[in-house]
Amino acid sequence: MKNTTLLVEHLSASFFTGRGEIKAVNDVSITVPRRSIIGIVGESGCGKSMTARSIMRLLKYPGKIVGGSIRLMGKELTALTDAEMANVRGEEISMIFQEPMTSLNPVMKVGKQVQEAILLHRKITKKEAKEEVLRMFREVGISEPEKRYNCYPHELSGGLRQRIMIAMAMICRPKLLIADEPTTALDVTVEAQILELMKGLRDTVDTSIVLISHNLGVIAEVCDYVYVMYAGQIVEQADTFTLFEDPRHPYTKGLMASVKSLEDKNTVLETIHGTVPNLLELPEGCAFSPRCGEVCENCRQAQSLIEVAPNHLVRCYASKEVQHG
Ligand SMILES: Nc1ncnc2c1ncn2[C@@H]1O[C@H](COP(=O)(O)OP(=O)(O)O)[C@@H](O)[C@H]1O
Ligand SMILES: [Mg+2]
Repeated sequence: MKNTTLLVEHLSASFFTGRGEIKAVNDVSITVPRRSIIGIVGESGCGKSMTARSIMRLLKYPGKIVGGSIRLMGKELTALTDAEMANVRGEEISMIFQEPMTSLNPVMKVGKQVQEAILLHRKITKKEAKEEVLRMFREVGISEPEKRYNCYPHELSGGLRQRIMIAMAMICRPKLLIADEPTTALDVTVEAQILELMKGLRDTVDTSIVLISHNLGVIAEVCDYVYVMYAGQIVEQADTFTLFEDPRHPYTKGLMASVKSLEDKNTVLETIHGTVPNLLELPEGCAFSPRCGEVCENCRQAQSLIEVAPNHLVRCYASKEVQHG
């Protein structure tokens, strides 16, 4: 297990609401090998953020982990106390979000904010911490780091703010970075730069990355291996090349078709008709069946993940059939 940064096994997390249990994360298993970039892709509402928050143990009430195991470098995170987990967060595992403005303090200089993040975990002087921050600013491609250090968040562009967030997340050189839609709020050019930066960090800082996106094009750009999520479950997983060359799940094929319209970020998934199901009223059997063009009698039964080739798993009985064309 030395070469596995994160091992998530049978993770389930639910919201307990007045209307019933919402299984937002339903028996999810994910392996993040050391120095890899793993992608989680799926439409909005399919459970990507909940999966990330569960791993970080940042679920908010009424959300709760109900089962499974999360091991970071062999350490079981579900068994840690809240205080122990707070030490792990930022130090060994970090997370960045779509909108940096909501995570940054608007009335504090960005350099100070990143400095605080390192002082929380390291017994070093303020001066040393500042130097560390400036070094990290350079590493994440922030030009004129001394000048930026004294800026307030609103004085920076969206791209720079996201670089600040990445610097803050990386300042303790964590083993794992979870990036939840980190480029969704950015324009295409800046998005490409940020993705390029993440690839670089994986190599220079020796950090593994979990990249979450609703956009398969983004995932294809940087990920080694991809998990496709639908209605709280993994429906397909494969290395990026295989997933694009030989997608087996009808949902993955639908996502794939929508990548062609990548240039326009606001394009909705036109190729998959219907909408993501209400998790309180899931259909019997395969959750995707009401939207699936290949639906048949077998789909009324719950589907399990089938290994169709080494490291290529699909939650669809039809995937067993040999594909032609
Ligand atoms: N605060 C909440 N209360 C109840 N259900 C929630 C809450 N937040 C999220 N959910 C449920 O969890 C599902 C997954 O949400 P999320 O992980 O945020 O999706 P994604 O990040 O893939 O867009 C949603 O479809 C919703 O049903
Ligand atoms: Mg999300």
